[in-house]
Amino acid sequence: MTSPSETPAWKALAEHAEQMQRRGLRELFAEDPDRGERLAVDALGLYLDYSKNLVSDETLGLLCELAKSCGLRARTEAMFAGEKINVTEGRAVLHTALRAPRGAVIEVDGENVVPEVHAVLDRMADFAERLRGGAWRGHTGRRIRNVINIGIGGSDLGPVMAYEALRHYADPELHLGFVSNVDGTDFAETIRGLDAEETLFIVCSKTFTTQETLTNARSARAWLLAALGDEAAVAKHFVAVSTNAEEVVGFGIDPANMFGFWDWVGGRYSYDSAVGLSLMVAIGPERFREMLAGFRAMDEHFRSAPFEQNMPVLLALLGIWYTNFFGAETHAVLPYDQYLWRFAAYLQQLDMESNGKRVDLEGRYVDYQTGPIIWGEPGTNGQHAFYQLIHQGTKLIPCDFIGFCQSLNPRGEHHDLLMANFFAQSEALAFGKSEEEVAAEGVASELVSHRSFPGNRPSNTLLAERLTPECLGKLVALYEHKVFVQGTIWNVNSFDQWGVELGKVLARRIAPELSGETEPEPDHDGSTNALIRHYRARRARQ
Ligand code: F6P
Repeated sequence: MTSPSETPAWKALAEHAEQMQRRGLRELFAEDPDRGERLAVDALGLYLDYSKNLVSDETLGLLCELAKSCGLRARTEAMFAGEKINVTEGRAVLHTALRAPRGAVIEVDGENVVPEVHAVLDRMADFAERLRGGAWRGHTGRRIRNVINIGIGGSDLGPVMAYEALRHYADPELHLGFVSNVDGTDFAETIRGLDAEETLFIVCSKTFTTQETLTNARSARAWLLAALGDEAAVAKHFVAVSTNAEEVVGFGIDPANMFGFWDWVGGRYSYDSAVGLSLMVAIGPERFREMLAGFRAMDEHFRSAPFEQNMPVLLALLGIWYTNFFGAETHAVLPYDQYLWRFAAYLQQLDMESNGKRVDLEGRYVDYQTGPIIWGEPGTNGQHAFYQLIHQGTKLIPCDFIGFCQSLNPRGEHHDLLMANFFAQSEALAFGKSEEEVAAEGVASELVSHRSFPGNRPSNTLLAERLTPECLGKLVALYEHKVFVQGTIWNVNSFDQWGVELGKVLARRIAPELSGETEPEPDHDGSTNALIRHYRARRARQ
């Protein structure tokens, strides 16, 4: 494919950006009193206001043109149809099949994968019901009260984000825990105070070869066996989620207690597969299916809505506008809902592992910026920490504000106050406060520049009625497809992650150098050698 930067639309956008950089949101709103209503999409129970962006109708037209010239429709269809668009790994990309209705037909290598997807969902539902209802018991006959997911990356961030997001719907009798870090502290603190007789571990790993996860899983088994003293206990206290049955069996988990998924599901796109088993146990199969329906609704919207009305496409194009034509390097995601406190961390992997690429699909080094740095915290906490820089700093940071009309925990005036802050922040970012306005308030002249706000800081606002499982599914699919659209336009493979390999290989090489009996002289660069020697000297004194 031609590089996007060679397309006429890209060139036109570059020229147009020079004009738009001189325009302001106050002016754009003054010119078009309907802008706030016009630049909005109201679909699927989500209201997306994108009017507070530094765009005109011409900008939006050119951005849609860019999407067309990069073959977005064809690539979308290729993904949904199960074509092997993950070319560097020779795989289909079919997370959308995870939420396809029972009767759908989606083929990979001539085989319909949908019946298998539903067979796994049914097994998960059966397991979740037995565990929630007390039919599945521990080795000593006690009821399971603690469910600990052991996984990392996509095998952790999705489940933990979604569990936190939906814990309002979770069975209060069950305690959920998540261990990811190979730092022993994570495991120690997660199991602190738990009774092994009432604890079940879900070892969740697509490959079942991930060092962190297997180390934690071995520690979990040792902890369990130390308490229960019988190898047979493993069968009642360990289940696995993986694509690798051989390794699961090798670890000692009965394949009957394994929930499978497939190589066409990327780790960061997987929590609506068996990877979400811990979530399903927490909220129950029915709520889990409601969440899948939300994903599906967004899939259909993405596939069928015209670009101008298409939420994932619009978010993606606006992101491209700032990344490639305004020099923005980061993107903040600011949910005004405490339940979404892990949402930005989840999106970091989804977005940065997908589009953190510098080589295009043809293997050429790109001459344009790709994936931004994603970050964020829930409002209002972020306001008292980093918003200062967004309002008055020297960097342009586009933001997504996410809020809900109804609180799941209505309490006095809390929710209206939360939402007052939500609306106020995007208003302040967009329109600021000029030096004249500040001076007119009688502020001392030497303080006027300090106390004025430049405005023109762009944001999107997403407003939904209530944070339900279905709504969460829509939100996650919205961002999945946003990332896909951006990857398509940047012409990168959003579905591999070779960048994580080198560090893993080096860690495997260094590990025996730290723990081996002989500890030979390290043979790395001067800095790493010195660090290893320093560590060894102090470690030995422990
Ligand atoms: O190292 C990155 C990564 O491969 C992620 O893409 C993945 O989500 C994570 O590791 C965990 O992998 P697994 O599920 O195979 O343990």
